[in-house]
Amino acid sequence: MLYVGIDLGTSAVKLLLMDEMGKIHKVVSKDYELYFPHPGWSEQKPEDWYSRSMEGLKELLSECDKSKVAGISFGGQMHGLVILDKDDNVIRPAILWNDGRTTEETDYLNNTIGKDKLSQYTANIAFTGFTAPKILWVKNKEPENFKKIEKIMLPKDYLAYKLSGVHCTDVSDASGMLLFDVKNRCWSKEMMEICDVKESQLAKIFESYETVGTIKPDVAAELGLPTTVKIVAGAGDNAAAAVGTGTVGDGRCNISLGTSGTIFISSKTFGVDSFNALHSFAHADGSYHLMGCMLSAASCNKWWMEDILKTTNFADEQKAITKLGENHVFFLPYLMGERSPLNDPYARGTFTGITMDTTREDMTQAILEGVAFALRDSFEVAKSLGIKIDRTKICGGGAKSPLWKKMIANILGIKVDVIESEEGPGYGGAMLAAVACGEFKSVEEAAEKLVKVVDTVEPDPELTKKYDECYNKFKQIYPALKPIFKVIG
Ligand code: XUL
Repeated sequence: MLYVGIDLGTSAVKLLLMDEMGKIHKVVSKDYELYFPHPGWSEQKPEDWYSRSMEGLKELLSECDKSKVAGISFGGQMHGLVILDKDDNVIRPAILWNDGRTTEETDYLNNTIGKDKLSQYTANIAFTGFTAPKILWVKNKEPENFKKIEKIMLPKDYLAYKLSGVHCTDVSDASGMLLFDVKNRCWSKEMMEICDVKESQLAKIFESYETVGTIKPDVAAELGLPTTVKIVAGAGDNAAAAVGTGTVGDGRCNISLGTSGTIFISSKTFGVDSFNALHSFAHADGSYHLMGCMLSAASCNKWWMEDILKTTNFADEQKAITKLGENHVFFLPYLMGERSPLNDPYARGTFTGITMDTTREDMTQAILEGVAFALRDSFEVAKSLGIKIDRTKICGGGAKSPLWKKMIANILGIKVDVIESEEGPGYGGAMLAAVACGEFKSVEEAAEKLVKVVDTVEPDPELTKKYDECYNKFKQIYPALKPIFKVIG
């Protein structure tokens, strides 16, 4: 049988066709606009997600035996607020995970309601990108829109709704809303009250590997698919990527270098980071995970390459970088503010340490290293909680770069296992569809059977030592600049 994984990303939707042996038959990508209507704001049109996904599906399925397609599932950008009115029209553009407009609402939640209460109700505190502060923002700043809200959903759930007609979500994605009681895997009554939201406006909750319904007959006809195709809940992109890289069960780690950068640690048991720096979310395998999320990772390199250096040949730019651990230029990767572990929407990107002999290569190197140092910040929090990590998987667009993988292995001082495909969320989505269709007994079984490590990047003790010294310098830059960021706005 054939399974489709839809990775609804921030720069594009990537669709992947996989068979029951885990073989990838085809991958299709369709991009869409990302809007920044004000500095620090970030929006997309849900209608674009759907139209581009439908175009992508048609292309993806154009050469296969469509009668063999059994299930479709998702890995989706998390936290985005999608609101529909009584006629199912999108009320306003979706407010995305990397949008920093909700500083007032986030302060209200963290400081008036209180972090202790939030953590007790949801296992998390408020961050500007989370969904609940956005609901409060719409209530405060767009009361007319707030009144019209009939359904609240997350980005990938909008696709599931359009494909199946079921207003659904899954436990991993729901975890990032700050409306979900992660420990007990249900909506939090207290948070609904705080956000002035009724349960009828929220989606029905599923485990990520559960079927929510079958494809709507009109959509099946448009795609030429049988009406028996199952639409499966799927997961937030990080949990889906974890499934796609085999990061399931206890104590495993995955790093995703996409538009965001995340460090994801799977756990069989529920736990909360007492520092509130890492998120405590439900996992797509039925258990839990901790996660640190930086808002700009591969996007820093993309911005530097495409917008500033005006090149698309990322690999060529990296060829000239040879002096690892010796760069005197440092880059803070906070182009959209920062989430983990700083929780500072006012943080900004900077180059520090530039001199007359600084080269283009030094600056490119500083960007790649700056992202890895910022990932280490979250990694250090995990270590301080007593979590031992000596190896990680890696996925996302940035994982295509051998140089970046080497930097990560040496800056974190851990082994980096490379798997066959870096298409984490799409592959994970297809795997979840296969589990729901009965191909595997569990997500863990699917991961064991399908995910193969093809290479391991080992840290080199000498380079790790040099990078430790660089990290100690990097660590001092943000605290020194923090007061300035608020001044420059
Ligand atoms: C996770 C997060 C990002 C988005 C990116 O908390 O905000 O990784 O899911 O797609």
